[in-house]
Amino acid sequence: MLPAPVSTQDPATATGRPLRWGVVATGTIAARVVADLALLDDAILQAVSSRTEASARAFARRFGFAEVYSDAEDRPGYERLFDDPAVDVVYIATPHAQHHAVAMAALTAGKHVLCEKPLAMNARQAGELADLARDRGLFLMEAVWTRFLPSFCRAAEILRSGEIGSAQWLQADLGFVAPDDPASRIQDPAAGGGALLDLAVYPLTWALGVFGEPSDIVARGALTPEGIDRQNALTLTYASGACAQLLTSIGADSPGEATIAGTEGWLRSAGPLFNPRELVIQAKGGPARTERFEVPGNGFGYELREVTRCLQSGLTDSPYMPPAESVRMMELLDEARRQMGIRYASDAD
Ligand SMILES: NC(=O)c1ccc[n+]([C@@H]2O[C@H](COP(=O)([O-])OP(=O)(O)OC[C@H]3O[C@@H](n4cnc5c(N)ncnc54)[C@H](OP(=O)(O)O)[C@@H]3O)[C@@H](O)[C@H]2O)c1
Repeated sequence: MLPAPVSTQDPATATGRPLRWGVVATGTIAARVVADLALLDDAILQAVSSRTEASARAFARRFGFAEVYSDAEDRPGYERLFDDPAVDVVYIATPHAQHHAVAMAALTAGKHVLCEKPLAMNARQAGELADLARDRGLFLMEAVWTRFLPSFCRAAEILRSGEIGSAQWLQADLGFVAPDDPASRIQDPAAGGGALLDLAVYPLTWALGVFGEPSDIVARGALTPEGIDRQNALTLTYASGACAQLLTSIGADSPGEATIAGTEGWLRSAGPLFNPRELVIQAKGGPARTERFEVPGNGFGYELREVTRCLQSGLTDSPYMPPAESVRMMELLDEARRQMGIRYASDAD
C-alpha cells in the first residue's frame, strides 16, 4: 500500500464543489470528527441521525446541521437519513457491531460512505461492503485517519528515502486503561469489545505501511471472563526477514509509540502513534534529530479532505485506503482472534 503524499495544504481549503454530509450517531468520535468537518470550506453539514430525537437535535444545534432524523417505530433514524436526497455522503460513527448493517443500508440507498474503524466485525462483513460499493459505483473508505496525517506520510517518505537504510523491524504499542464498566462498548462482547478491534488498526497501519503484507502472524492475548481481549501481542514476520511486534491493551497505559529499526539507523514516532507529534530520526550513527508536527483542529481534516478530493474527482476508492486494504486488515484481525480464541456473535451469521 502506497502511503499518501505529505500534505502541506490546510485541509480546510476547498478543492471543488461542496459535498453535503450526513452523520450517523452523536457519540464521542462523531463530535470530534464533525468539529473538523465543520472547518472544511466545501463541506455542508446537511443532516444528522441519532437513536433519540433529543440527541439528534442537540448535536444539530451544536454543529449547525440543517436536518435531523431519529428512530421511528418502523425504522431506524439512519435509514430515514439515507432516504434524504439532499445527502451526498455519510459518516458512520456507531460502535463496531453496527458498522456493517448501517453501511450496507447507506450503500443500498446510494450514499457514499466514510465509516469508522474497524470497517466491520470480520473480513466477511468487510468484503460484503466492498462488493456492494463496487457494484453500485459508490465510494467507501474506513476512517483510518492516521494514513493521511502529514507526520505519518513524512515517516513513510523518510523510510523510502533510505535515510535509515533498509527497515528490519518495527515495534509499536497502544494502550489505555478503559473504564471497568461492563456496559461500555469497549468491554461489551456484543459491541465488539476488546483491545484488538478497537486499537490494533493503528499499529497494523504502521506495520502494513512499513513492510506490506506479512507472511505469518502469531497472536497471543489475555482474555476477560466475558471472552474479549484485555490485551494482546501480535508478531508479524515477512518474507524479507523483517519482523514486527505490535501490542495493544485496554488495561494498561502505554506511550503509544512506533519504532522502526533499519540497517543504517532508526525512526521513532512519539505522541501517540495514531497522531504522531514528533518523529525522532537517528541515521548513520549521527546525532538524532526531531521533526515536529501540528495538526489543525483534532487532526481529522486530512482524511475528510481525502474523501472530499476523491468524490470531487469521481474516484470510488481512495488509493491510500481502499476497501481491499480494510478487508485485508480484517483478515489479519480474524486470524489473530482465531488464535486467541475470541468469537463474536457476528461470526455465526
Ligand atoms: N478514529 C478514531 O480516532 C476513533 C476514536 C474513537 C472511536 N472510534 C470508533 O468510532 C466508533 C464509535 O466510538 P465512540 O467512542 O464514539 O463510541 P460512543 O461514544 O459509545 O458513541 C457511539 C454512538 O453510536 C450510537 N450507538 C450506540 N449504540 C448503538 C447501537 N446499538 N446501535 C446504533 N447506534 C448506536 C450512539 O449515538 P446515538 O445515541 O446518537 O444513536 C452512540 O453515542 C467505534 O467503532 C470506534 O472504533 C474511532
